Amino acid sequence: MLEHRLNPDLAAQREVLDAIAPQVRALMERHRQSRKLWMPSELLPASEHTDANHEAELREIRSRARGLPDSVRVALALNLLTEEGLPHFHRLVAQYLGHDGVWAEWNNLWTAEEDRHGCVLRDYVRDARLFDMRALEHLQYQYLEAGFNPDWRADPYRLLAYTSLQEKATQTAHANAGRIAGQYEPKLQKILAHICADEARHYAFYRDTFALVLKADTNRALAALAAVAPSLAMPGHTIAGYAQMSEVERRAGIYGPREYLKLVEDLVKHWAIDALDGLSAVGRAAQEKIMQLPARLARMADYIESKAHTRSFSFDFIYQRAFEMAAGTAR
Ligand SMILES: [Fe+2]
Ligand SMILES: [Fe+2]
Repeated sequence: MLEHRLNPDLAAQREVLDAIAPQVRALMERHRQSRKLWMPSELLPASEHTDANHEAELREIRSRARGLPDSVRVALALNLLTEEGLPHFHRLVAQYLGHDGVWAEWNNLWTAEEDRHGCVLRDYVRDARLFDMRALEHLQYQYLEAGFNPDWRADPYRLLAYTSLQEKATQTAHANAGRIAGQYEPKLQKILAHICADEARHYAFYRDTFALVLKADTNRALAALAAVAPSLAMPGHTIAGYAQMSEVERRAGIYGPREYLKLVEDLVKHWAIDALDGLSAVGRAAQEKIMQLPARLARMADYIESKAHTRSFSFDFIYQRAFEMAAGTAR
């Protein structure tokens, strides 16, 4: 590839990806063994042969869903839109990890699993009549048409660092949304729990794959993590109203800088970043930057919380109803 001739680092990284392929295959097999493959229609009746019970179930879902607070609806919309960004991610994984062998097999398996998340959430919000669907669909359309091209300089390690963080972030967001939604709508909590279980296993795959890279090519892996982790480029930032939606999600205690800080801390600990030694100057600088990151993220979270005031929000997809939220998070 031209990129490899221009950048010898990339050729070396490709060799590392080839060398760890057998271990990555073992991680993929572990994933296959441990997963439970569910289908969206097992969670929500959808067959031609719906019976009276199914009709009654749908009516109950609708009636319970009416009680969901608007803040939870907004978080759910953002989490749904994030899942629907899958075409961007399928492309990025193929672009950064390649179109052959175990990397392509994983990309296809992972994409097939992820696709169910957007499907089941969309089935739910449609069946439950949670949104002005046209307004939501318009956001989804915009998000896909806008593309998503993070500046990872063709570095495959950045993709692996990013996906490790992002899988945990989505798992956290779905889990917290489910916990809160469950007070009103147990069915929604059940659906979110199914998605969470997938995200937890995806996280384990990417985290352990990145650990292999960290072992085989420590300095470059540290540099990639140091480049990606300080400000995780959120894929949905091109969505109109994204900042306001994220702010609602933060205030609802579903996902925000505190949750990100926690998952960065967990990963830094899991990978034992502080214990890595025999590093080059570049590796040492990256290690230092990563070790300082939790404190930096904590300061950012403090700052955001200190600047926040009670505020009113409204979105087209909830018919521009205005709702107010206090400055802090509702944990
Ligand atoms: Fe997902
Ligand atoms: Fe996932």
